[in-house]
Amino acid sequence: MQVQPYNLMAHAFILFLLFSCITSMNIHACKHSERSSLLSFASAVSAPPSNWTSLDCCHWKGIACNQDGWVTHLLLPSKGLKGGLSPSSLGNLTHLTHLNLSHNSLLGSLETKLFLSLNRLEILDLSYNLLSGELPFSLPSSNIRTVDLSSNQFFGAIPSSFFQQASNLTSFSVSNNTFTGYVPSSICLHSSPFLRLLDFSSNQFNGNLAPGLGKCSELQVFRAGHNNLSGLLPEDIYNATKLEEISLPLNSLHGEISNKIVNLTNLAILDLYINQLSGKLPLNLGKLSKLKFVTLDFNNLEGALPPSLMNCTNLVELRLGSNNLEGDISMLDFSRLNQLAKLDLRVNNFTGTFPVSLYSCRSLKAIRLTGNNLVGQIQAQILSLKSLSFLSLGFNQFTNLTGAMKILMSCKSLHALMLSGSFKGEEMPADDDMVDFDGFQNLRVLCLIESRLTGQLPVWLSELHNLEILLLNGNEITGPIPSWLGTLPRLFYINLSENRFSGEFPKQLCRLPRLVYEPNITSQVDNTSYEYELPFYFGPVVRNPNYYLSSKISSYPATIDLSNNNIVGDIPIEVSQLQLLHGLVLHANNLSGIIPDQISNLKNLEVLNLSMNHLSGIIPSSLASLTFLKEFNVSYNNLQGPIPTSTQLQSFNASAFEGNPKLCGAPLPNKCDRPNKCIDEDNKKNNKGMGNGLHQLPWFYISSIVLGFIVGFWGVCGSLIINKTWRYAYFRFIYNVQDRLYVMITVRINMIKRKP
Ligand SMILES: *[C@@H]1O[C@H](CO)[C@@H](O)[C@H](O)[C@H]1NC(C)=O
Ligand SMILES: *[C@@H]1O[C@H](CO)[C@@H](O)[C@H](O)[C@H]1NC(C)=O
Ligand SMILES: *[C@@H]1O[C@H](CO)[C@@H](O)[C@H](O)[C@H]1NC(C)=O
Ligand SMILES: *[C@@H]1O[C@H](CO)[C@@H](O)[C@H](O)[C@H]1NC(C)=O
Ligand SMILES: *[C@@H]1O[C@H](CO)[C@@H](O)[C@H](O)[C@H]1NC(C)=O
Ligand SMILES: *[C@@H]1O[C@H](CO)[C@@H](O)[C@H](O)[C@H]1NC(C)=O
Ligand SMILES: *[C@@H]1O[C@H](CO)[C@@H](O)[C@H](O)[C@H]1NC(C)=O
Ligand SMILES: *[C@@H]1O[C@H](CO)[C@@H](O)[C@H](O)[C@H]1NC(C)=O
Ligand SMILES: *[C@@H]1O[C@H](CO)[C@@H](O)[C@H](O)[C@H]1NC(C)=O
Ligand SMILES: *[C@@H]1O[C@H](CO)[C@@H](O)[C@H](O)[C@H]1NC(C)=O
Ligand SMILES: *[C@@H]1O[C@H](CO)[C@@H](O)[C@H](O)[C@H]1NC(C)=O
Ligand SMILES: *[C@@H]1O[C@H](CO)[C@@H](O)[C@H](O)[C@H]1NC(C)=O
Repeated sequence: MQVQPYNLMAHAFILFLLFSCITSMNIHACKHSERSSLLSFASAVSAPPSNWTSLDCCHWKGIACNQDGWVTHLLLPSKGLKGGLSPSSLGNLTHLTHLNLSHNSLLGSLETKLFLSLNRLEILDLSYNLLSGELPFSLPSSNIRTVDLSSNQFFGAIPSSFFQQASNLTSFSVSNNTFTGYVPSSICLHSSPFLRLLDFSSNQFNGNLAPGLGKCSELQVFRAGHNNLSGLLPEDIYNATKLEEISLPLNSLHGEISNKIVNLTNLAILDLYINQLSGKLPLNLGKLSKLKFVTLDFNNLEGALPPSLMNCTNLVELRLGSNNLEGDISMLDFSRLNQLAKLDLRVNNFTGTFPVSLYSCRSLKAIRLTGNNLVGQIQAQILSLKSLSFLSLGFNQFTNLTGAMKILMSCKSLHALMLSGSFKGEEMPADDDMVDFDGFQNLRVLCLIESRLTGQLPVWLSELHNLEILLLNGNEITGPIPSWLGTLPRLFYINLSENRFSGEFPKQLCRLPRLVYEPNITSQVDNTSYEYELPFYFGPVVRNPNYYLSSKISSYPATIDLSNNNIVGDIPIEVSQLQLLHGLVLHANNLSGIIPDQISNLKNLEVLNLSMNHLSGIIPSSLASLTFLKEFNVSYNNLQGPIPTSTQLQSFNASAFEGNPKLCGAPLPNKCDRPNKCIDEDNKKNNKGMGNGLHQLPWFYISSIVLGFIVGFWGVCGSLIINKTWRYAYFRFIYNVQDRLYVMITVRINMIKRKP
């Protein structure tokens, strides 16, 4: 019998229809209950994807289903979702294997009902949300491989039963929450033999690290930094031989780094800064040939650097600052470390000269050897370090500053140069051949403090068009403060205090472009982006990582500090142009005349110290409009009349006003019992003016009201530094730049805290 073509085609067609119907049902049709669960989830968040409307939820954005129409994937990271995780919705999606809702603004907690019903879950990523509460007693599924709950607001201890089902777990992160209790380091003893990543950092875990990690035979990354861990580094961590990263900074771990660490042959990152580790560095550390980042700053390590370290040819960063290490570093052969970009050996007991072998580490960008006992001179070979950007060699016994500067000025990439506290008693480099100056073209920070340098400010400084920070305090520099200083386009932080400068306050300084408010020139300089290779230290509060990690200086408070010199004449009215100034420190000079009313234009001022001068007249009542003022001192001048009444000025101690016999009123003990009628009226007027708004302050008022002023006192900065420093005896590097800056920052922070 012959099959008719027509029939054949018809059959084929029907078959095709049937088949495609079946497949489409299998692949596309989402179960009704799943759809309503998703819609219930969507109704609880503010911005569900726009195409979550059609019948078939398996084709919605972020959704995938299995053959049977069960939703298996819900992937909506960074979708701006705001709202609650509701157990009645997500918890019904019981076939979910992949849940990724990271980087949203989800609220609520991981309710046990919701969580445990997701018992097929393999990947769970809820990082970067606003979730809180404690963890449920257990992970939901033995299939779970990845759990990322980092950067939320979870708290409480991690229940010991949490990992009972975690036999397939490979990656677990709870960093950046507020978990407490013990780090569950026994996690691999009974479960989780496949763990590769464990991240407990930035929480409030405390206590010892219990043994157990040694059983994590696959562990590659272990992080628990920035907690409150104490005790020893557990010995069995050295049994986890696949470890590539150990990061436990910012804790209170003590004890030695065991020689057994050489068994961790894959180790690339050893990050233990700010702990209390002691003893010597393992002699065979150099056998760890994959080491890249070694950060052990702020511990109590002692002894010499193991020569084997110079075999770690992959080293990129070696930071061993603030320990008690010693030995002649010029004997070490750094020349094989041709990846080395950052070397920080600050504040140790190293001796010898600048290691010549360092000149062959061509990748070097940052060298800090500050605060050791090094001698000798800087050699011209340093110019072979073409990428060198950050050089800090202060507080050693180097000599020949002129030679050093002449060499370094050709260092094209140099951004920050700190040579303080060496070169004692030498002259400011000002050779004739430095006049046609074309060097230091990228220099942003120059710090040459506490060196008793003599001579005048050299003219070549006026060519440093990128200079932002100039610190020359604690020298014996003479002559006037040159007017060209006011032409440096990026300069915003000047400290010339404790020198022998004479002459008047240069009016030109009041035109510093970075300090003058120019509404139309909003971003003449890219003052936010530059990040230095190493953090600057702001002083002894190094346990506060906000200070420790700051390698950006553009946000430092703009300051002019000319205190402890011999500046004469008036405070020029032009200072009122420096509207972006945060600190004006002029104490212990020979300034006379009045306190210009116009100082009240400096609306950003936080520190104003005019003490120990010969200022006369009254305190302008307009100063009360300086609402950011945190430090104020006009003591030891010849000021007179009542202290203007304002919550601002009365919040300072009497010591800020003392030493002005004719000054009266709170906070001074002497009352203004025979008020000068004239002054009183003028003050009233001024106070009225203030009520109208801070912006039209009475600088146009009868300027003769403005009389006087004040003299000196101890430096605000100095005393703060010394008080705090003694609490950290080991931190002997007190007279550096960063201390000064730290004070300014602290001042600002305290000020912010104080404001209602
Ligand atoms: C979730 O399931 C429960 C019972 O299994 C049911 O009562 C509830 O309505 C479901 N929720 C949604 C949103 O479907
Ligand atoms: C929804 O959007 C996603 C991605 O934008 C797209 O792949 C999918 O086809 C859309 N679904 C529907 C039903 O329009
Ligand atoms: C979740 O999604 C984000 C963004 O796509 C991705 O970076 C992240 O790796 C995902 N999480 C997991 C555990 O795969
Ligand atoms: C680990 O996961 C696989 C599937 O991914 C599963 O077959 C196995 O049972 C799980 N192991 C345990 C111990 O549950
Ligand atoms: C820590 O979490 C907060 C939100 O809780 C987030 O803003 C911040 O960026 C996170 N920090 C890091 C280093 O991830
Ligand atoms: C850190 O732990 C110590 C005890 O080891 C405890 O005294 C201290 O209060 C803890 N600090 C914080 C911030 O939890
Ligand atoms: C480390 O492993 C060795 C050999 O595998 C074993 O003898 C030792 O007990 C382990 N150490 C610890 C602290 O578990
Ligand atoms: C370190 O490795 C050596 C052999 O390489 C082995 O004998 C020793 O047991 C290992 N130590 C630990 C703590 O695993
Ligand atoms: C450095 O490694 C070489 C071989 O790679 C070895 O001969 C030498 O002893 C090692 N140096 C030190 C100090 O360990
Ligand atoms: C480091 O040097 C100082 C002074 O030179 C000395 O008092 C101290 O004992 C030394 N420290 C060590 C660990 O050698
Ligand atoms: C200082 O250094 C320069 C440049 O290296 C050199 O020419 C000069 O001789 C040095 N002076 C002294 C006194 O060593
Ligand atoms: C600033 O800009 C405004 C409009 O953008 C303009 O009217 C004004 O003249 C400018 N001022 C200066 C000083 O350039």
